[in-house]
Amino acid sequence: MSKCTTVDDTIRPKRLSDFIGQEALRSNLDVFIKAATENGRPLDHTLFYGNPGLGKTTLARIMSSELGVNLVSTSGPVLERSGDLAAILTNLEEGDILFIDEIHRMPPTVEEVLYPAMEDFQIDLVIGSGPGARTVKIDLAPFTLVGATTRIGLLTSPLRDRFGCVFRIEFYSPDELGRIVQRAARIMGVEISEDGAETIGRRSRGTPRIANRLLRRVRDYAHVQGDGSIDTALAEMALDRLDVDPFGLDYMDRKILTVMVENYAGGPVGVKTLAAACSEEVRTIEEIYEPYLIQCGFLKRTQRGRVVTPKAYKHLKMRCLDDGDDDQHSLL
Ligand SMILES: Nc1ncnc2c1ncn2[C@@H]1O[C@H](COP(=O)(O)OP(=O)(O)OP(=O)(O)O)[C@@H](O)[C@H]1O
Ligand SMILES: [Mg+2]
Repeated sequence: MSKCTTVDDTIRPKRLSDFIGQEALRSNLDVFIKAATENGRPLDHTLFYGNPGLGKTTLARIMSSELGVNLVSTSGPVLERSGDLAAILTNLEEGDILFIDEIHRMPPTVEEVLYPAMEDFQIDLVIGSGPGARTVKIDLAPFTLVGATTRIGLLTSPLRDRFGCVFRIEFYSPDELGRIVQRAARIMGVEISEDGAETIGRRSRGTPRIANRLLRRVRDYAHVQGDGSIDTALAEMALDRLDVDPFGLDYMDRKILTVMVENYAGGPVGVKTLAAACSEEVRTIEEIYEPYLIQCGFLKRTQRGRVVTPKAYKHLKMRCLDDGDDDQHSLL
Protein backbone atom coordinates (compact mmCIF):
# COMPACT_ATOMS: atom_id res chain seq x y z
CA MET A 1 0.00 0.00 0.00
CA SER A 2 1.32 3.46 -0.90
CA LYS A 3 2.27 5.74 1.95
CA CYS A 4 2.44 8.98 -0.07
CA THR A 5 -0.07 11.66 0.95
CA THR A 6 -2.13 13.29 -1.79
CA VAL A 7 -3.65 16.80 -1.69
CA ASP A 8 -7.01 15.05 -1.25
CA ASP A 9 -5.75 13.29 1.87
CA THR A 10 -4.60 16.56 3.43
CA ILE A 11 -7.90 18.27 2.69
CA ARG A 12 -10.10 15.39 3.80
CA PRO A 13 -11.54 16.13 7.29
CA LYS A 14 -10.05 13.84 9.94
CA ARG A 15 -12.40 14.55 12.87
CA LEU A 16 -16.16 14.93 13.12
CA SER A 17 -15.71 18.57 14.15
CA ASP A 18 -13.95 19.29 10.81
CA PHE A 19 -16.79 17.73 8.81
CA ILE A 20 -18.96 20.55 7.45
CA GLY A 21 -22.74 20.27 6.87
CA GLN A 22 -25.05 17.22 7.30
CA GLU A 23 -25.93 18.55 10.77
CA ALA A 24 -28.46 15.87 11.73
CA LEU A 25 -26.22 13.02 10.60
CA ARG A 26 -23.23 14.53 12.38
CA SER A 27 -24.95 14.99 15.71
CA ASN A 28 -26.45 11.48 15.61
CA LEU A 29 -23.13 9.94 14.74
CA ASP A 30 -21.51 11.92 17.52
CA VAL A 31 -23.97 10.43 20.05
CA PHE A 32 -23.48 6.87 18.78
CA ILE A 33 -19.68 7.20 18.85
CA LYS A 34 -19.73 8.60 22.40
CA ALA A 35 -22.12 5.86 23.58
CA ALA A 36 -19.96 3.13 22.06
CA THR A 37 -16.78 4.60 23.56
CA GLU A 38 -18.32 4.95 27.04
CA ASN A 39 -19.80 1.45 27.02
CA GLY A 40 -16.62 -0.06 25.60
CA ARG A 41 -18.46 -1.93 22.89
CA PRO A 42 -18.15 -1.76 19.10
CA LEU A 43 -20.44 0.67 17.30
CA ASP A 44 -23.45 -0.81 15.50
CA HIS A 45 -22.97 -1.64 11.83
CA THR A 46 -23.41 1.55 9.86
CA LEU A 47 -24.47 2.22 6.27
CA PHE A 48 -23.88 5.50 4.40
CA TYR A 49 -25.67 6.12 1.15
CA GLY A 50 -25.67 9.06 -1.21
CA ASN A 51 -24.26 10.39 -4.44
CA PRO A 52 -20.55 10.20 -5.28
CA GLY A 53 -18.25 12.73 -3.59
CA LEU A 54 -20.58 13.64 -0.70
CA GLY A 55 -18.37 12.24 2.07
CA LYS A 56 -19.09 8.52 2.64
CA THR A 57 -15.44 7.40 2.67
CA THR A 58 -14.54 10.49 4.69
CA LEU A 59 -17.10 9.56 7.36
CA ALA A 60 -15.84 5.97 7.57
CA ARG A 61 -12.32 7.29 8.19
CA ILE A 62 -13.58 9.84 10.72
CA MET A 63 -15.36 7.03 12.61
CA SER A 64 -12.13 5.06 12.91
CA SER A 65 -10.13 8.06 14.15
CA GLU A 66 -12.86 9.16 16.60
CA LEU A 67 -13.11 5.62 17.99
CA GLY A 68 -9.33 5.12 17.90
CA VAL A 69 -9.62 1.81 16.03
CA ASN A 70 -8.13 0.32 12.85
CA LEU A 71 -9.87 0.85 9.54
CA VAL A 72 -9.69 -2.07 7.13
CA SER A 73 -10.93 -1.02 3.69
CA THR A 74 -12.16 -3.06 0.78
CA SER A 75 -14.89 -2.79 -1.83
CA GLY A 76 -17.76 -4.89 -3.17
CA PRO A 77 -16.33 -5.63 -6.64
CA VAL A 78 -12.94 -6.67 -5.19
CA LEU A 79 -14.53 -9.39 -3.04
CA GLU A 80 -14.99 -11.96 -5.79
CA ARG A 81 -15.10 -15.15 -3.69
CA SER A 82 -16.46 -15.84 -0.21
CA GLY A 83 -12.91 -16.87 0.85
CA ASP A 84 -11.70 -13.30 0.14
CA LEU A 85 -14.11 -11.88 2.68
CA ALA A 86 -13.57 -14.73 5.17
CA ALA A 87 -9.81 -14.00 5.15
CA ILE A 88 -10.41 -10.32 5.93
CA LEU A 89 -12.99 -11.07 8.65
CA THR A 90 -10.83 -13.59 10.49
CA ASN A 91 -7.95 -11.09 10.64
CA LEU A 92 -9.99 -8.30 12.26
CA GLU A 93 -9.15 -7.26 15.81
CA GLU A 94 -11.75 -6.36 18.42
CA GLY A 95 -13.44 -3.03 17.66
CA ASP A 96 -11.94 -2.70 14.16
CA ILE A 97 -13.95 -1.06 11.44
CA LEU A 98 -14.36 -3.02 8.23
CA PHE A 99 -15.24 -0.53 5.48
CA ILE A 100 -16.84 -2.01 2.36
CA ASP A 101 -17.21 0.61 -0.37
CA GLU A 102 -19.72 0.03 -3.19
CA ILE A 103 -21.27 -2.64 -1.00
CA HIS A 104 -24.14 -3.08 -3.48
CA ARG A 105 -21.66 -4.66 -5.91
CA MET A 106 -20.77 -7.62 -3.69
CA PRO A 107 -21.55 -11.04 -5.25
CA PRO A 108 -24.47 -12.90 -3.51
CA THR A 109 -22.22 -15.76 -2.33
CA VAL A 110 -19.93 -13.27 -0.58
CA GLU A 111 -22.90 -11.42 0.88
CA GLU A 112 -24.12 -14.62 2.53
CA VAL A 113 -20.86 -14.84 4.50
CA LEU A 114 -21.62 -11.40 5.90
CA TYR A 115 -25.01 -12.26 7.42
CA PRO A 116 -23.78 -14.43 10.36
CA ALA A 117 -20.66 -12.28 10.63
CA MET A 118 -22.74 -9.17 11.19
CA GLU A 119 -25.33 -10.79 13.41
CA ASP A 120 -23.36 -13.22 15.60
CA PHE A 121 -19.71 -12.41 14.81
CA GLN A 122 -19.34 -15.89 13.36
CA ILE A 123 -18.68 -17.37 9.95
CA ASP A 124 -19.33 -20.83 8.57
CA LEU A 125 -16.29 -22.14 6.77
CA VAL A 126 -16.44 -25.19 4.49
CA ILE A 127 -13.35 -27.35 4.85
CA GLY A 128 -12.48 -29.85 2.15
CA SER A 129 -14.64 -30.76 -0.81
CA GLY A 130 -16.90 -33.53 -2.05
CA PRO A 131 -18.40 -36.07 0.39
CA GLY A 132 -15.68 -35.37 2.99
CA ALA A 133 -16.46 -31.65 3.18
CA ARG A 134 -17.53 -30.33 6.56
CA THR A 135 -18.59 -26.97 7.93
CA VAL A 136 -16.93 -25.37 10.90
CA LYS A 137 -18.04 -22.29 12.76
CA ILE A 138 -15.35 -19.71 13.41
CA ASP A 139 -15.76 -16.97 15.99
CA LEU A 140 -14.77 -13.47 14.95
CA ALA A 141 -13.64 -10.54 17.06
CA PRO A 142 -16.58 -8.14 17.49
CA PHE A 143 -16.19 -5.50 14.76
CA THR A 144 -18.17 -2.72 13.10
CA LEU A 145 -19.09 -3.01 9.45
CA VAL A 146 -19.34 0.33 7.67
CA GLY A 147 -20.89 0.07 4.23
CA ALA A 148 -21.07 2.78 1.57
CA THR A 149 -23.24 2.81 -1.51
CA THR A 150 -24.41 5.21 -4.17
CA ARG A 151 -27.34 2.88 -4.95
CA ILE A 152 -29.27 1.90 -1.83
CA GLY A 153 -32.04 0.48 -4.04
CA LEU A 154 -29.69 -2.26 -5.24
CA LEU A 155 -28.98 -3.53 -1.72
CA THR A 156 -30.82 -6.70 -0.79
CA SER A 157 -33.17 -6.29 2.16
CA PRO A 158 -31.47 -8.97 4.36
CA LEU A 159 -28.26 -6.97 4.10
CA ARG A 160 -29.88 -3.56 4.59
CA ASP A 161 -31.80 -4.82 7.63
CA ARG A 162 -28.59 -5.91 9.37
CA PHE A 163 -27.30 -2.33 9.65
CA GLY A 164 -28.15 -0.72 12.99
CA CYS A 165 -27.54 2.81 11.67
CA VAL A 166 -28.44 3.93 8.16
CA PHE A 167 -27.51 7.46 7.10
CA ARG A 168 -28.48 9.24 3.91
CA ILE A 169 -25.99 11.90 2.81
CA GLU A 170 -27.67 14.83 1.07
CA PHE A 171 -26.36 17.36 -1.42
CA TYR A 172 -24.75 20.35 0.35
CA SER A 173 -26.06 23.93 0.32
CA PRO A 174 -24.01 26.68 -1.41
CA ASP A 175 -23.26 28.13 2.03
CA GLU A 176 -21.89 24.80 3.32
CA LEU A 177 -19.87 24.34 0.14
CA GLY A 178 -18.52 27.87 0.55
CA ARG A 179 -17.29 26.90 4.02
CA ILE A 180 -15.78 23.66 2.65
CA VAL A 181 -13.93 25.70 -0.01
CA GLN A 182 -12.67 28.17 2.62
CA ARG A 183 -11.38 25.34 4.79
CA ALA A 184 -9.64 23.63 1.84
CA ALA A 185 -8.13 26.95 0.69
CA ARG A 186 -6.77 27.53 4.19
CA ILE A 187 -5.08 24.11 4.17
CA MET A 188 -3.71 24.72 0.65
CA GLY A 189 -2.43 28.18 1.66
CA VAL A 190 -4.61 29.99 -0.88
CA GLU A 191 -6.11 33.39 -0.06
CA ILE A 192 -9.82 33.51 -0.88
CA SER A 193 -12.64 35.95 -0.09
CA GLU A 194 -15.86 34.70 1.51
CA ASP A 195 -17.84 35.62 -1.64
CA GLY A 196 -15.23 34.02 -3.87
CA ALA A 197 -15.57 30.77 -1.89
CA GLU A 198 -19.34 30.91 -2.15
CA THR A 199 -19.16 31.50 -5.91
CA ILE A 200 -17.19 28.26 -6.25
CA GLY A 201 -19.58 26.55 -3.79
CA ARG A 202 -22.65 27.57 -5.80
CA ARG A 203 -21.25 26.02 -8.96
CA SER A 204 -20.16 22.74 -7.34
CA ARG A 205 -23.32 20.65 -7.93
CA GLY A 206 -23.89 20.32 -4.18
CA THR A 207 -20.77 18.13 -3.96
CA PRO A 208 -17.63 18.72 -1.81
CA ARG A 209 -15.37 16.69 -4.14
CA ILE A 210 -16.32 18.97 -7.04
CA ALA A 211 -15.92 22.08 -4.86
CA ASN A 212 -12.36 21.03 -3.98
CA ARG A 213 -11.58 20.24 -7.61
CA LEU A 214 -12.92 23.59 -8.85
CA LEU A 215 -10.98 25.38 -6.13
CA ARG A 216 -7.75 23.83 -7.42
CA ARG A 217 -8.50 24.93 -10.99
CA VAL A 218 -9.53 28.45 -9.95
CA ARG A 219 -6.34 28.67 -7.89
CA ASP A 220 -4.36 27.94 -11.09
CA TYR A 221 -6.06 30.90 -12.81
CA ALA A 222 -5.40 33.09 -9.76
CA HIS A 223 -1.77 32.06 -9.87
CA VAL A 224 -1.20 32.64 -13.57
CA GLN A 225 -3.56 35.51 -14.33
CA GLY A 226 -3.89 37.28 -10.97
CA ASP A 227 -1.90 37.85 -7.81
CA GLY A 228 -2.63 34.37 -6.43
CA SER A 229 -5.67 35.37 -4.38
CA ILE A 230 -9.28 34.53 -5.29
CA ASP A 231 -12.21 36.96 -5.21
CA THR A 232 -15.67 36.73 -6.80
CA ALA A 233 -14.62 38.29 -10.13
CA LEU A 234 -11.66 35.95 -10.53
CA ALA A 235 -13.72 32.90 -9.49
CA GLU A 236 -16.46 33.78 -12.00
CA MET A 237 -13.98 34.38 -14.81
CA ALA A 238 -12.18 31.08 -14.13
CA LEU A 239 -15.39 29.05 -13.81
CA ASP A 240 -16.72 30.51 -17.07
CA ARG A 241 -13.49 29.54 -18.75
CA LEU A 242 -13.88 26.03 -17.27
CA ASP A 243 -17.34 25.90 -18.87
CA VAL A 244 -19.11 25.51 -15.52
CA ASP A 245 -22.30 27.58 -15.65
CA PRO A 246 -23.94 29.47 -12.73
CA PHE A 247 -25.99 26.37 -11.80
CA GLY A 248 -22.83 24.27 -11.81
CA LEU A 249 -23.85 22.45 -14.99
CA ASP A 250 -20.96 21.37 -17.15
CA TYR A 251 -20.71 20.42 -20.81
CA MET A 252 -22.20 16.93 -20.33
CA ASP A 253 -25.15 18.12 -18.23
CA ARG A 254 -26.07 20.60 -20.93
CA LYS A 255 -25.51 18.00 -23.65
CA ILE A 256 -27.94 15.59 -21.95
CA LEU A 257 -30.64 18.27 -21.74
CA THR A 258 -29.97 19.57 -25.27
CA VAL A 259 -30.04 16.08 -26.83
CA MET A 260 -33.37 15.42 -25.09
CA VAL A 261 -34.84 18.66 -26.42
CA GLU A 262 -33.42 18.50 -29.93
CA ASN A 263 -33.73 14.77 -30.65
CA TYR A 264 -36.65 13.68 -28.49
CA ALA A 265 -38.81 16.80 -28.17
CA GLY A 266 -37.94 17.03 -24.47
CA GLY A 267 -38.90 13.42 -23.69
CA PRO A 268 -40.07 11.09 -22.34
CA VAL A 269 -36.93 9.20 -23.31
CA GLY A 270 -35.47 6.00 -21.83
CA VAL A 271 -32.10 6.20 -20.09
CA LYS A 272 -30.52 3.64 -22.46
CA THR A 273 -31.51 5.65 -25.52
CA LEU A 274 -30.28 8.81 -23.85
CA ALA A 275 -26.95 7.23 -22.92
CA ALA A 276 -26.41 6.02 -26.49
CA ALA A 277 -27.30 9.43 -27.93
CA CYS A 278 -24.83 11.15 -25.56
CA SER A 279 -22.10 8.47 -25.99
CA GLU A 280 -22.08 7.99 -22.23
CA GLU A 281 -22.60 4.95 -19.99
CA VAL A 282 -26.03 4.34 -18.47
CA ARG A 283 -24.49 4.08 -14.98
CA THR A 284 -22.68 7.40 -15.34
CA ILE A 285 -25.88 9.14 -16.42
CA GLU A 286 -27.86 7.55 -13.60
CA GLU A 287 -25.31 8.07 -10.83
CA ILE A 288 -23.44 11.25 -11.75
CA TYR A 289 -25.54 13.51 -13.98
CA GLU A 290 -29.18 12.69 -13.41
CA PRO A 291 -29.39 13.13 -9.60
CA TYR A 292 -28.13 16.71 -9.80
CA LEU A 293 -30.30 17.59 -12.82
CA ILE A 294 -33.30 16.24 -10.89
CA GLN A 295 -32.24 18.14 -7.76
CA CYS A 296 -32.03 21.38 -9.80
CA GLY A 297 -35.51 20.69 -11.20
CA PHE A 298 -34.22 20.44 -14.79
CA LEU A 299 -35.17 16.82 -15.31
CA LYS A 300 -37.83 14.53 -13.98
CA ARG A 301 -38.32 10.82 -14.04
CA THR A 302 -41.68 9.57 -15.24
CA GLN A 303 -42.89 6.03 -15.79
CA ARG A 304 -42.37 6.48 -19.53
CA GLY A 305 -38.84 7.88 -19.23
CA ARG A 306 -36.94 11.09 -18.53
CA VAL A 307 -38.53 14.45 -19.29
CA VAL A 308 -36.96 17.91 -19.54
CA THR A 309 -38.79 20.49 -17.39
CA PRO A 310 -39.80 24.05 -18.36
CA LYS A 311 -37.13 25.35 -15.95
CA ALA A 312 -34.45 23.62 -18.03
CA TYR A 313 -35.81 25.14 -21.26
CA LYS A 314 -35.57 28.54 -19.62
CA HIS A 315 -32.02 27.88 -18.42
CA LEU A 316 -30.94 26.66 -21.87
CA LYS A 317 -32.84 29.56 -23.46
CA MET A 318 -34.64 27.09 -25.72
CA ARG A 319 -38.22 27.02 -26.97
CA CYS A 320 -40.48 24.33 -25.55
CA LEU A 321 -43.05 22.98 -28.03
CA ASP A 322 -46.51 22.29 -26.71
CA ASP A 323 -47.84 19.21 -28.46
CA GLY A 324 -50.67 18.67 -26.04
CA ASP A 325 -48.64 16.29 -23.88
CA ASP A 326 -49.04 16.91 -20.15
CA ASP A 327 -45.30 16.79 -19.64
CA GLN A 328 -44.65 19.63 -22.08
CA HIS A 329 -45.34 23.32 -21.66
CA SER A 330 -45.00 26.28 -23.93
CA LEU A 331 -42.60 28.78 -22.44
CA LEU A 332 -41.96 31.36 -25.10
N1 LIG B 1 -18.59 17.41 4.87
C1 LIG B 1 -17.40 17.63 4.31
N2 LIG B 1 -16.63 18.64 4.75
C2 LIG B 1 -15.45 18.88 4.14
N3 LIG B 1 -14.95 18.18 3.10
C3 LIG B 1 -15.66 17.15 2.66
C4 LIG B 1 -16.92 16.81 3.24
N4 LIG B 1 -17.43 15.75 2.60
C5 LIG B 1 -16.52 15.41 1.65
N5 LIG B 1 -15.47 16.25 1.67
C6 LIG B 1 -14.34 16.24 0.73
O1 LIG B 1 -14.80 15.69 -0.49
C7 LIG B 1 -13.94 14.65 -0.95
C8 LIG B 1 -14.79 13.49 -1.41
O2 LIG B 1 -15.38 12.84 -0.29
P1 LIG B 1 -15.48 11.24 -0.17
O3 LIG B 1 -14.31 10.60 -0.87
O4 LIG B 1 -15.68 10.92 1.26
O5 LIG B 1 -16.80 10.98 -0.99
P2 LIG B 1 -17.59 9.60 -1.22
O6 LIG B 1 -19.00 9.85 -0.81
O7 LIG B 1 -16.86 8.49 -0.56
O8 LIG B 1 -17.53 9.44 -2.80
P3 LIG B 1 -17.62 8.07 -3.69
O9 LIG B 1 -19.07 7.67 -3.72
O10 LIG B 1 -17.16 8.52 -5.06
O11 LIG B 1 -16.71 7.06 -3.07
C9 LIG B 1 -13.01 14.30 0.20
O12 LIG B 1 -11.68 14.26 -0.25
C10 LIG B 1 -13.17 15.41 1.21
O13 LIG B 1 -12.03 16.24 1.20
MG1 LIG C 1 -15.82 6.87 -1.36
